[in-house]
Amino acid sequence: MRKKVTKAVFPVAGMGTRFLPATKSVPKEIMTLVDRPLIQYAIDEARAAGIKEFILVTSRGKGALEDFFDHAPTLEAELRKKGKDELLNIVKNTNMESGAIAYIRQHKALGLGHAVWCAKRLIGNEPFAVILPDDVIAAEKPCLQQMVEAFEETQGNIVAAMEVPEDKASAYGILDVKDDMGSMVSVKGMVEKPAKGEAPSNLAVIGRYILTPKVLQNLNKMKSGAGGEIQLTDAIAAEINEGRDVFGFRFNGTRFDCGSKAGFLQATVSFALSRPDLKDELSRYLHEVVALENAAE
Ligand code: UTP
Repeated sequence: MRKKVTKAVFPVAGMGTRFLPATKSVPKEIMTLVDRPLIQYAIDEARAAGIKEFILVTSRGKGALEDFFDHAPTLEAELRKKGKDELLNIVKNTNMESGAIAYIRQHKALGLGHAVWCAKRLIGNEPFAVILPDDVIAAEKPCLQQMVEAFEETQGNIVAAMEVPEDKASAYGILDVKDDMGSMVSVKGMVEKPAKGEAPSNLAVIGRYILTPKVLQNLNKMKSGAGGEIQLTDAIAAEINEGRDVFGFRFNGTRFDCGSKAGFLQATVSFALSRPDLKDELSRYLHEVVALENAAE
């Protein structure tokens, strides 16, 4: 029987050191892209893909994430009283139904693989999605929805993949490609953060996965890998060694690395330019800035 993906894991337990000092007290995932926190883009993308259960793997100091998805009766009553219906709807769209969202703690930042492993009892024995909220993807059809549709066909592990320049490969997990079928590639190996010149291809894994529960069993056995962390990539690569399918999926869309400052700024400009209420003013300003820069050169 074909299995459906109804659960998604959001690993949000990392320390976000690249955004210090902001992340000393503000979780990275609460930081704002235009007017919505990163985590809301991730949750909305999951909802669009038909996900019904949302599992956040959190850590100390991430309480703001729980508050964000809770109902805010005082704020809602105030907006209702003032007739601010549009804002009221915006706020209400962030509320989660009781029981739909669960939080589990990763007590120590031992790596992404370990964070996913922490959710294993909540995932149970079914395929699940993993979304890293700091990878934000602008796409006509949301990336996870594209992947869920692909999974309905393949029923095998799928990782989102994107071409990267050779000099950037060592920042990613890189696919060793067996067959290239266009939007899908079958994978014969995966290398996390390869040393310079050792990347098996230019296809990098980015923060969207659909995984079968066997990956959780692999995580049971995982020791720390690249960077001393328990790597999700290694647990997925173990699937291949055990004869199960892993596919790379070339999604349609533009991915922004909001885990880095430059990526976050680019996403901010791009998302703001796609908003009718901000586009004209921002675009005028950007032209002015560029003209001034050019004149100063
Ligand atoms: P990153 O590598 O971006 O780490 O993690 P980070 O801590 O968030 O940020 P920097 O590098 O210190 O600036 C990728 C994703 O994996 C999660 C993070 O929350 C992020 O969503 N993660 C990472 C965990 O949940 N637990 C970990 O132990 C490590």
